[in-house]
Amino acid sequence: MSRPIILGIVGDSAAGKTTLTRGIAQVLGPENVTLICTDDYHRYDRQQRAEIGITALHPDCNHLDIMQQHLSLLRTGQPILKPVYSHKTGSFEPPQYIKPNKFVIIEGLLGYSTRAARDCYDVKVYLAPPENLRAKWKVKRDTQKRGYTPEQVLAELEKREPDSEQFIRPQRQWSDIVVSFYPPHEDGDESNGHLNVRLVLRPTIPHPDFTPIINLTNGNSVSAIRLGLDRDMSKPVDVLEVDGHATLEQVNKLEHILCSDMPYLSSVCDRESNPELGKIAGTTGETLQSYPLALTQLIITYHMLKATQMYQ
Ligand code: G6P
Repeated sequence: MSRPIILGIVGDSAAGKTTLTRGIAQVLGPENVTLICTDDYHRYDRQQRAEIGITALHPDCNHLDIMQQHLSLLRTGQPILKPVYSHKTGSFEPPQYIKPNKFVIIEGLLGYSTRAARDCYDVKVYLAPPENLRAKWKVKRDTQKRGYTPEQVLAELEKREPDSEQFIRPQRQWSDIVVSFYPPHEDGDESNGHLNVRLVLRPTIPHPDFTPIINLTNGNSVSAIRLGLDRDMSKPVDVLEVDGHATLEQVNKLEHILCSDMPYLSSVCDRESNPELGKIAGTTGETLQSYPLALTQLIITYHMLKATQMYQ
């Protein structure tokens, strides 16, 4: 029996979850995708959180048991009645009836915090930008979209840090892929708008054979796309890096590896019928719109499609 394929996108506040989620949904075809944000499972509204003195990042501040139940239901193709949290008002709205499509993307803060929840995903992604970049993104988003002042956002970040450390960041260990967008220069200058990406690939899911990438490094010049071995949270991993200044020719080689194994992606990568590939991104992703983002989306989509073949 066919069931939905479930992708998790977990990371701290303003780590780029929504941007990545929307981009992947676009590659898979929005009509095939159900998007769920686990912020909807907050136990307390904004005012109650302030009164109690708890942050949204704390497990006790979320109905993780109900989130888990809903994940299990979605995994078997059943509908849920999902709570709705409004970021605009900071309070709850009437619940929504949601029937899963072929693909379900669950994004949020605490998606991997329990064993039973983790068991529901086919592919688990964790977003880990450098903390100073995340702070910049959070200030930008929360001032432009959520009505906060920069000072309020910075104070909130400081208040949340202990919970980030204790509850959010440890979830990195459960992911199949860790995605870190980072500025090409140490001073954090991203004036050309093209961030690099570092993808940690754990051997917990079958990755495409990226070894031909190793041969892209010519002589002394460092290639803009690199594959290497490393350790992440003390476990051995592959690391794939794509620089923001990668050329179309280099990008094509990586795409070729993905497409030769997954014909659907060939149509996505066909620039004549799909000239916007390099720009596939969410609504706020202007600093991310780049080959590193597009390739990250393609690699994650590859895994969603692979899971379809394996489990359906
Ligand atoms: C963080 C998360 C949000 C979450 C929020 C609650 O900012 O990124 O998605 O819902 O905390 O705080 P709020 O600003 O809505 O009171």
